[in-house]
Amino acid sequence: MTEGREPIGVIGVGWVGLVTAACFAELGHRVVARDIVPEKVETLARGETTIHEPGLSELLARNAERLAFTTEMDELLDAARLLFVCVDTPPTRSGDADLSRVRSVLDELRAGNDHVLIMKSTVPAGTGEAIRRDLPGLAYVSCPEFLKEGSAVEDFLHPDRVVIGADPGDEEAASAVAALYEPLGGELVRTDVASAEMIKLASNAFLATKISFVNEIANVCEEVGADVAEVARGMGLDQRIGSSFLRAGIGYGGSCFPKDVSALKMLAGNTGYHFQLLNAVIEVNELQKRRVVQKLIGHLGALAGRRVALLGLAFKPDTDDMREASSLVLAARLQGEGAEVVAYDPVAGEAARELLDSVELAGSALEALDGADAAVLVTEWGEFAELDWVEAAGRMARPLLVDGRNFLDPEKLRDAGFEYEGIGRAIASARSPATTD
Ligand SMILES: NC(=O)c1ccc[n+]([C@@H]2O[C@H](COP(=O)([O-])OP(=O)(O)OC[C@H]3O[C@@H](n4cnc5c(N)ncnc54)[C@H](O)[C@@H]3O)[C@@H](O)[C@H]2O)c1
Repeated sequence: MTEGREPIGVIGVGWVGLVTAACFAELGHRVVARDIVPEKVETLARGETTIHEPGLSELLARNAERLAFTTEMDELLDAARLLFVCVDTPPTRSGDADLSRVRSVLDELRAGNDHVLIMKSTVPAGTGEAIRRDLPGLAYVSCPEFLKEGSAVEDFLHPDRVVIGADPGDEEAASAVAALYEPLGGELVRTDVASAEMIKLASNAFLATKISFVNEIANVCEEVGADVAEVARGMGLDQRIGSSFLRAGIGYGGSCFPKDVSALKMLAGNTGYHFQLLNAVIEVNELQKRRVVQKLIGHLGALAGRRVALLGLAFKPDTDDMREASSLVLAARLQGEGAEVVAYDPVAGEAARELLDSVELAGSALEALDGADAAVLVTEWGEFAELDWVEAAGRMARPLLVDGRNFLDPEKLRDAGFEYEGIGRAIASARSPATTD
């Protein structure tokens, strides 16, 4: 089965690297994956997964014979010519992308060889050119990743498009990378390195802009008595607009949008260009998370001593990733107002424990709601739609719910006895007279 398939090296086995490794193994390649965290490598070598991602455990188990995990770079360099760099590029204090992990990978490659470095990590435009200057003997291909956490395996195996950037001299390397993706379909975009790097940053910045845009529309809807869900539905049917990423809520989070929007803004700024739009996108997103607190105060008055339950902590459903999760800001703001915060997440509880000071973690949604004065739906986990909301209302000190993702059916919640308020749904969530007095 693996005959004729190029072996592949993966450097960094986080969300992107582990999914890349598992999916190429599924396509029949032998994959050697390297990480610098020994515990991660040991867990993966035992056949266990290190992240929660639908379908990933099955893929790892099914392809165990084709997958090897190691902490040794030499093992990877001996095994494969094509090396996917999937290390993290978090923000620096200045908001630029921190390329220190990428640089430490390059340091280990300086010996010079016939390897092809394929950059999957999201890096600022210009990074590839700098790497080619520093390592002239190395073939370099930019191949940004577009998978979404929560559907990462599915996205990798069924891409909308595959972007491959290479500069003159690296065409053979680029064709080798294109051949790897060929079985997956998806439109192939062959371009230069700087354009490939910009495609990734611009795509994430555009999606974040769409979210902040619809959130501002939601805020206006509240003022004028419209329902943003209806507005977004009507807008999204226009093919020039499209319906995805038009869902109003408490803002975007996660390991990509916040840092990539900031990195693009800073990249522009470093060249002397002031990217005004992105400033607004970022500010709207920050303020959006805080609007929930104002909504709670509108219902309850001062929050000091009130018990508030957060339903969901992960930055989105189907992942245990807590990076830049809106729940972190929300919990801190509620505590800042003197509220007692209790929270429940179906999978991110462990990951959240060390990030959330003094937040009580409950074992179930109903347990979190027990005795609470209000609840906020933070992450749209499927199980919250199935919850017995009548029982939930009975358990709460006051059945008040702010639906931060417009996920639940307002009528169902009201029938269950809740005061329900969504985001930008002035008509659908009109407060009951008792709560506005
Ligand atoms: N997470 C996503 O949804 C997503 C989607 C598209 C693109 N990206 C981009 O892909 C990159 C990786 O993101 P992620 O979420 O997988 O990060 P991650 O933090 O989950 O994983 C990065 C891994 O790299 C390892 N690492 C660091 N230095 C290393 C080195 N020198 N050698 C080997 N391993 C090393 C870390 O230990 C970690 O396991 C980032 O640039 C990110 O912006 C992420």
